Amino acid sequence: MNFNTVSYSIIEEIKTIVGDNYVLTDSESINKYSHDETEDLRFYPEVVIKPNSVNQISKLLKLCNENNICVTPRGGGTGLSGGALPIYGGLLLSLENLNNILDIDERNLQATLEPGVITEVFMNAVSDKGLLYPVDPSSKGSCFIGGNVSHGSGGPRVVKYGTIREYILNLEVVLPSGEVIWTGANTLKYASGYNLTQLMIGSEGTLGIITKIVVKLIAKPVTDVLLMASFSTNEQACAAVSAIFRAGIVPSALEFMERRGVEWVIEYDHIPFDLKEGVNAFLMIEVDGNNLDTLFAEAEIINQVLEENGCTEVLFADTAAQKDDLWRIRRVMPVSVKSNSVYKEEDTVVPRAELPKLINGIKAIGNKYGFSSICYGHAGDGNLHINILKGLMSDADWNTKLKEGINEIFELTVSLGGTISGEHGIGLVQKEYMRIKYSELHLSLMRGIKGVFDPKGILNPGKIF
Ligand code: LAC
Ligand code: ZN
Repeated sequence: MNFNTVSYSIIEEIKTIVGDNYVLTDSESINKYSHDETEDLRFYPEVVIKPNSVNQISKLLKLCNENNICVTPRGGGTGLSGGALPIYGGLLLSLENLNNILDIDERNLQATLEPGVITEVFMNAVSDKGLLYPVDPSSKGSCFIGGNVSHGSGGPRVVKYGTIREYILNLEVVLPSGEVIWTGANTLKYASGYNLTQLMIGSEGTLGIITKIVVKLIAKPVTDVLLMASFSTNEQACAAVSAIFRAGIVPSALEFMERRGVEWVIEYDHIPFDLKEGVNAFLMIEVDGNNLDTLFAEAEIINQVLEENGCTEVLFADTAAQKDDLWRIRRVMPVSVKSNSVYKEEDTVVPRAELPKLINGIKAIGNKYGFSSICYGHAGDGNLHINILKGLMSDADWNTKLKEGINEIFELTVSLGGTISGEHGIGLVQKEYMRIKYSELHLSLMRGIKGVFDPKGILNPGKIF
C-alpha cells in the first residue's frame, strides 16, 4: 500500500486542529504506541495524536484522506490480534481523551459514553445504580469500551448475557471523509434497513472511528453461586460442558482451565489454591440471579451432571474472598502464561459439544509439530484460548513449522463448524488464516464493504484481509 508520509506541514496543520500538546513525535511516545498486547510485535507510528472531540477527529480524518495518510485508531492497547499496530506508520489516533460517560439513563436502561472509557470504570458506574453492563473481558481494568466494540469483545459472562453485540444500540462514527453519522437508533429493536451498528461492531477500526456509544443495560442480579469442578482429563471436563446446558441450566460463567495454567497462576500470583494430584482440568461454573434458593437448586443439578461426567471433586466457594480467589485464578491466567514462556495465542471457537474433539485435536497437533500448549477459555461458548508455548522448539521451527501447526488447528476448528476467532479479532496476526474460514468470494464481499466506507483505504490498513 502506498501512503504519503506525515510531512512537517501536515504536522503543523494537525497542531492547529488538536493543539500542540496533543501531537506527539518524541521517541518515548512513538515507542509507547508501537505495540499492544500482541506477542512482542512493534510497529512505529510517525506521529501520535490524542484528539479531544468528534469535531477534531472529523477534521483529522478529512485531512488524512485528502493527503493519503494512513490512520490507525487505538483504544487501551490491550488487543491480542495486533489491531492497534500502525504497520504502515502514519498517524496513530489514540482515543484516550474521549473518556466521558455522558449519560446513564435509568428510565430506559441505556447509557451513552465515549470510546476511551475504561470498561471496568463504566461497569462500576452503572453498578452503583444497581445496573449491569455484563461484557467484561479479562483486561477490563485497562481496556477501553471503544476497543471492545471494535473487536466484538466477549468475556466470561457472554454465555448467559451475550457478547457486546447484544449491548450496543447505536454508534456515532466519523467516516474517513470526515462526515459523521449515527449508525442506528437508541432502540431495542431495529428492522430499518442494513444494520450499520452491527457492521461497525468487530470492524476493527477499518470502516470509521467510533466516537460515541449507546449501550443497553440490565438490572444487576443480586447474588451468585460459584463452584470449581476438577477432572482427570481435559476431554472429560470439555464433555461435561454441553451436558450442563442439556440439563436446563444457563450458567452466568462456564470457564475451562488446564492444570498447567492453574499451576503457573499460583506461582505468578501466589493465590491460595489446593491443587491436587491427578487433577488435570477444571471447570469454573457460576450461576447468578435474585434468589439464593433457586441458585442452590441449580448448583445441585450442575453437581449431578458433573458427577455423571467424571468430575472428581466439586469445590463450592463459600465466601466472597474464596470467590475472588477463584476468579483471580482465571483472570490472571493470560498474564501468568505470558510471563512464563515465549508464546502465541489463538482464539478458537466451535459449537460447544465439539469442545472435546477440539481439545484432543489441539494436543495431537502439538505432539506432531513439537509444541505444547495451555488452553483455557469460555467453554460455555465453545471458545478456547490456545496459548502455544515455544518450550524446546528451535527458533527455526518456531518461525516456520509452527505456522503449519496453527493452520492445522484452524482447519480442525473450521471442520468442527467453528471459526478462527471468537472474541480477540483478526487484526494483523490472524489475517493469513482467513482463507481457511472464508472463500475468495466471501472475502471480496468484505473488501467491497471496506471500499464503500473507506475508498482510499486509509483506515487501519493491513488488518483483517
Ligand atoms: C481471557 C482473554 C485472554 O479470556 O480473552 O482471559
Ligand atoms: Zn477470553
